[in-house]
Amino acid sequence: MQGPDLEPILAIERVSFPSPWPRSAFELAIAAPDLMSIVACADAVLGYLIGCPDVNDLLIANVAVDPRARREGIGRLLLDEAITRARGLHLAGCKLDVRMSNESAQRLYDRLGFQPRGVRRNYYQHPPEDALHMRLTLD
Ligand SMILES: CC(C)(COP(=O)(O)OP(=O)(O)OC[C@H]1O[C@@H](n2cnc3c(N)ncnc32)[C@H](O)[C@@H]1OP(=O)(O)O)[C@@H](O)C(=O)NCCC(=O)NCCS
Repeated sequence: MQGPDLEPILAIERVSFPSPWPRSAFELAIAAPDLMSIVACADAVLGYLIGCPDVNDLLIANVAVDPRARREGIGRLLLDEAITRARGLHLAGCKLDVRMSNESAQRLYDRLGFQPRGVRRNYYQHPPEDALHMRLTLD
């Protein structure tokens, strides 16, 4: 992820989430050397993922794909890349939180081997919703 990717990333972010991250959060992700920021590109930016080492795990903090390019394997590609990098960093697992209503994302994580690890009550605002916490144990 680099500076010129910001505008298309923000456009995808705004159509993907009810409470989109602000520009400053992505600028921070680009600047912080310990954060993992990955972009999927063809002629244009098609999706992105931001991961953050958290104790012994990689926390997947954000992942989204351009609505026009969904169901083409890009989300899986981004997660596969993050998991490979987490293994390279000798991390013990990957973890994330997902809205209870977000069945498509949950199915993607399930396909990759993430398992439900609990519910976080009122984790999200705008609109308020519980989160399903999921984790993938790395060998
Ligand atoms: C979740 C998201 C990143 C998935 O990206 P994607 O590129 O469409 O996903 P993929 O094409 O790699 O899908 C991989 C698998 O996930 C599951 N999946 C993904 N989208 C799905 C959907 N809408 N319905 C059912 N299953 C779905 C399927 O099992 C799919 O495999 P298949 O196409 O062979 O059946 C994308 O829908 C998105 O950006 N959503 C909005 C942002 C978001 O919710 N991010 C996650 C926050 S926790």
